[in-house]
Amino acid sequence: MRTLTDQLIDAFEERGEADLIHEFAFPLPIYAICDLLGVPREDQDDFRDWAGAMIRHGGGPRGGVARAVKRIRAYLGELIHRKRLELAERAEEEDGEDLISGLIRASDHGEHLTENEAAAMAFILLFAGFETTVNLIGNGVYALLRHPEQRALMQRALEEGDERLLAAGVEELLRYDGPVEIATWRFATEPLTLAGQRIAEGEPVLVVLAAADRDPERFAEPDVLDLTRRDNQHLGYGHGIHYCLGAPLARLEAQTAIATLLRRLPGLRLALDPDDLRWRGGLIMRGLRTLPVTWNSADD
Ligand code: HEM
Repeated sequence: MRTLTDQLIDAFEERGEADLIHEFAFPLPIYAICDLLGVPREDQDDFRDWAGAMIRHGGGPRGGVARAVKRIRAYLGELIHRKRLELAERAEEEDGEDLISGLIRASDHGEHLTENEAAAMAFILLFAGFETTVNLIGNGVYALLRHPEQRALMQRALEEGDERLLAAGVEELLRYDGPVEIATWRFATEPLTLAGQRIAEGEPVLVVLAAADRDPERFAEPDVLDLTRRDNQHLGYGHGIHYCLGAPLARLEAQTAIATLLRRLPGLRLALDPDDLRWRGGLIMRGLRTLPVTWNSADD
């Protein structure tokens, strides 16, 4: 993850300006999840293009998105088929270490996943872990740039090698402006009354995680960004049996990304008036379209 992050920064450092969404927050999770799944390096830029099409066109089964999804599914189907054949020819101790090989090998009471099921699982991991992480990095860096005293605190902690503040700080960034505003749909399995609102059996319920994370009854001064906040049990990764499977990976990515960026470009600042920044539309995800930044060696 560190190598990936450094390589991305190497590509724009000399220029003195960059769009942190497109050149940094966006490619990092794609390459990371591709490495984890076992997608060969030479194919990863295709993934970057397809994933880009998915994000640009927003959610929904329309045009560009549908084409990108189809390409990714077809590619994963072929990759899984190829890996299954490779695994069948190898001794057990030589099995691949990547996640796709793991999915192929995995069994439950002697039953294995079909190739289709393994492809669906790989697709979910790719999809669930992509735009979310892009936006945690994007929203997180943006929040730090808007709160110079908090950013200075983080920068000092990094200089002193205090990794605890980095970990706690990224949790606070997630609480303060997390990428997932609304959980996936829930349906009432029985009639209930919630905060005075009657909900009939079968009715959908949309849980607004972002509102819960600013709940004044739960968090002291919820609208204040405080990287040292204690008792910070936010709902940014959901709760209960559907709690985010990729939370440890997302944490590692966001912590590495933010730490490396602040260490290498300490003079980082916004290149646009915040009022001119554009946010993506959509009910579920919250994230910036672009995050233009600048720095110069005099600052650094
Ligand atoms: C900052 C990044 C991320 C955020 C904010 C996030 C957020 C969430 C949230 C809120 C849920 C629960 C949704 C619900 O209950 O309706 C969830 C579920 C899930 N996430 Fe993440 N996620 C992130 C990264 C990832 C990554 C990197 C992966 C995989 C590589 C991943 C895989 C999943 C999966 C598979 C589920 C469904 C779990 C289940 O239903 O049992 N997520 N995530």
